Amino acid sequence: MEKQYGRITGWGSYVPSNIITNEDLEKIVDTSHEWIVRRTGIHQRHVVGPEETNATMSVAAAQAALDKANIHATDLDLIIHATTFQDHITPPTSSQVQHMLGAHNVPAFVLTTGCTGFVYGLSVAQQFIRTGAYRTILIIGSEIISRGLDWTDRSTCVLFGDAAAAMVMEACDEPCGLFGFDLGSDGSGYDKIIMPAGGAAEPVGADTFAAGRHYLQMNGSEVFKFASRVLGKSCYRSLARAEMTLDDIDWIVPHQANLRIIQAAARDMDLPLSRFITVVDRYGNTSAASIPLAICDAIAEGKIKPEDKLLLVSFGAGLTWASCVLQMAPRLEKVNVMADLTAVSQNIDSLAVTAL
Ligand code: COA
Repeated sequence: MEKQYGRITGWGSYVPSNIITNEDLEKIVDTSHEWIVRRTGIHQRHVVGPEETNATMSVAAAQAALDKANIHATDLDLIIHATTFQDHITPPTSSQVQHMLGAHNVPAFVLTTGCTGFVYGLSVAQQFIRTGAYRTILIIGSEIISRGLDWTDRSTCVLFGDAAAAMVMEACDEPCGLFGFDLGSDGSGYDKIIMPAGGAAEPVGADTFAAGRHYLQMNGSEVFKFASRVLGKSCYRSLARAEMTLDDIDWIVPHQANLRIIQAAARDMDLPLSRFITVVDRYGNTSAASIPLAICDAIAEGKIKPEDKLLLVSFGAGLTWASCVLQMAPRLEKVNVMADLTAVSQNIDSLAVTAL
């Protein structure tokens, strides 16, 4: 069998219409627009309305990606749903997404590695395509973090936003897709980003509820240090596996958590910030949706072209990290049109002579 690559044929995103600005947050907690911008680069974030769920957001993004790929949900072989804030602890939200899309009996599962979920998901999808098990895979990154936040805790509520984004990966014979990836996990930082109660270890009860242990808690400075430590190293490991260098890369698309973390990564890699896609100012940290959302926006703005080589890099709860070199579609070789036309006209001349 020919070696199969995973071409990205569709992409799409969804953000709720409701926007919360830093000025809005000033009215809720003891913070300021200046502090938030200086420490994070975030200006606003989108937050779901009461009718929306993780599944409705995921379906909106997924449908946009399917439309772009010009395929139906029934054409899918697999759905990978990267998310942390599921609609219910069980059953998996991926099954509801599969049902709502009309992807009859298509296998679907949730992949939970926090903010790194989408890059983990891409690497998993690629393995199914490589082995020939599946040919058409939908990967979704989606989060409703706003429903897990303590809106009186200024150290977390200013950082996050809700969004979903998706990509369709299809088997392809020409080299493209993931050229190299690097996944990692350091469970010694398990408690650095955590919702302590609500799972099997600490079911929600009156006492945990009163203590707010069902909300997201984070040790911001430890996470910051972890991110600064791993991002550059992981990028270099992905590049080495892809047998490429930074010179081969058109854009770096980092996890959009904090502009200062992205600036630190740029310094670490000795690159100007202009090589990095940044949308953290308009969305905040949307966790597993952050990287595909940034790619969708950058494509819409004409920055990223599908044939560009991208270096994606992320970090998140676990603690985990993930990076990969992604070329969504193969680069079309430039055709020498004049040479081709001359050859065609010579062929026509010789045919005409033969006919005479
Ligand atoms: N507004 C105003 N002041 C705030 C604040 C807010 N929203 N949040 C925290 N502060 C205060 C703190 O209480 C602290 O005050 P103190 O010195 O009187 O105790 C001060 O600001 C400095 O806090 P610190 O946590 O040291 O700030 P920081 O420069 O590390 O920035 C984060 C905090 C959270 C922005 C930063 O650590 C960060 O982005 N970490 C990474 C988080 C992340 O990416 N998480 C997601 C992973 S996927």
